[in-house]
Amino acid sequence: MKTIIEPFRIKTIEPIRITSAEERKAYIKTANYNLFALHSEDVIIDLLTDSGTSAMSAAQWSALMQGDESYAGSPSFTRFEKAVKNLMPFKHIIPTHQGRAAEAILFSILGGPNKRIPSNNHFDTTRCNIEASGATADDLVIDAGKDPAAEHPFKGNIDLDKLSAYLSEFHESVPCVMTTITNNAGGGQPVSLENIHATSVLARQYGKPFIIDGCRFAENAYFIQQRETGQQGRSISDIVRASFACADGMTMSAKKDGFANIGGWLALNDDALAQAARNRLIQTEGFPSYGGLAGRDLEAIAQGLSEIIDEDYLRYRIRTTEYISERLDSMGVPVMKPAGGHAVFVDARQWLGHIPPLQYPGQALAIALYEVGGIRGCEIGTVMFGKASDGSETPADMDLVRLAMPRRVYTQSHADYIVEVFEELRSIKDQLPGYAITDEPAAMRHFTAKFAPLAKP
Ligand code: F0G
Repeated sequence: MKTIIEPFRIKTIEPIRITSAEERKAYIKTANYNLFALHSEDVIIDLLTDSGTSAMSAAQWSALMQGDESYAGSPSFTRFEKAVKNLMPFKHIIPTHQGRAAEAILFSILGGPNKRIPSNNHFDTTRCNIEASGATADDLVIDAGKDPAAEHPFKGNIDLDKLSAYLSEFHESVPCVMTTITNNAGGGQPVSLENIHATSVLARQYGKPFIIDGCRFAENAYFIQQRETGQQGRSISDIVRASFACADGMTMSAKKDGFANIGGWLALNDDALAQAARNRLIQTEGFPSYGGLAGRDLEAIAQGLSEIIDEDYLRYRIRTTEYISERLDSMGVPVMKPAGGHAVFVDARQWLGHIPPLQYPGQALAIALYEVGGIRGCEIGTVMFGKASDGSETPADMDLVRLAMPRRVYTQSHADYIVEVFEELRSIKDQLPGYAITDEPAAMRHFTAKFAPLAKP
């Protein structure tokens, strides 16, 4: 059959309140044109993030009841640890309440002044945790990964020549080498198994641990199976194991490819490093058999890990973003190509060419998507990255809007609705106003800044 259906039935539903355009215009004005300030009940389709927004399965909900809340030695931890090790064969599995807590622990040990850590692209919390330790975070993604229109099967790959030159120049200050699968900051683009392997060989040549940020590991493995020569016959779990077998450790947010609403972990092979990490965990998160999570959360993750590698699910998942992306492309909306795993990225700077970067075309498009259709996306551009720590403002490399798809939450008709909202926008896009920032905090302004529309063009 040609039609790729949602490979699940719906047992429990959450109603969506259908608002009018007039109501939404009032809500977004009250929110000072910042989509983070909206009440989620006032959003029709919420594509702000794919993190922690998954629908759990009946098996996950029933696993919650198995949660053993003992402080130490809980069987829920044993089940969680076994499920993780089944896919990621690391020696030490250290649970955390979410991904950034794993990063904070790792870089409190490996980071520090005068250190530098390379990756394809560090996600922003990873970068933040590295920089907070006094170290420098460097992005070495291949050039095609920086061009939204470049068709390349593995746009998340790290540039091996750059990494090699980097390690030969800085090896004394490099405590570890990282790669993010899929590359969220670069558009959810995959990294090939060949690139993961070659990165690990380079890291080992210099005696450096290789750490994978594995948030979207199953999506990455599906892309490898579909696109990489020689990988077609392999199962997803096999590819996942082969990917992590190259690494010495991983950080993970179970809020993505753990199918859970909260959770994460740090995994390591090195005993001394793991010992230091567990000490830090006890100080900041909790005892090593629960690490900031309830026993029931560990159960939900353990079950989620057995579901996320299902090929029917992954086919539907990846086809959804591809479908929306293809439809937008065919109507002339500039989208990042090929489609990423978890999100569709729209090039707002190009589509709203009349709005200069310092009037935030990404923010303008995100607001218009909400006003016209009640869709909440996220600006990834000059609002997010344009303000330097010295207070100066320059355009970011790109002004994108990310439409991140929650897992197992929306259906085909929601996808068609998203496309229809863009059709509607097409006729009014040249009249959309730019925005000014009227109030902003010193850092991470996109979360709380206030905006005002400028005069219409
Ligand atoms: N690494 C990557 C690649 C991520 O995408 C995220 C979170 C994290 C680490 C941090 O994990 O949220 O559990 O602390 N990304 C979310 C997003 C927030 O919307 O892309 P966390």
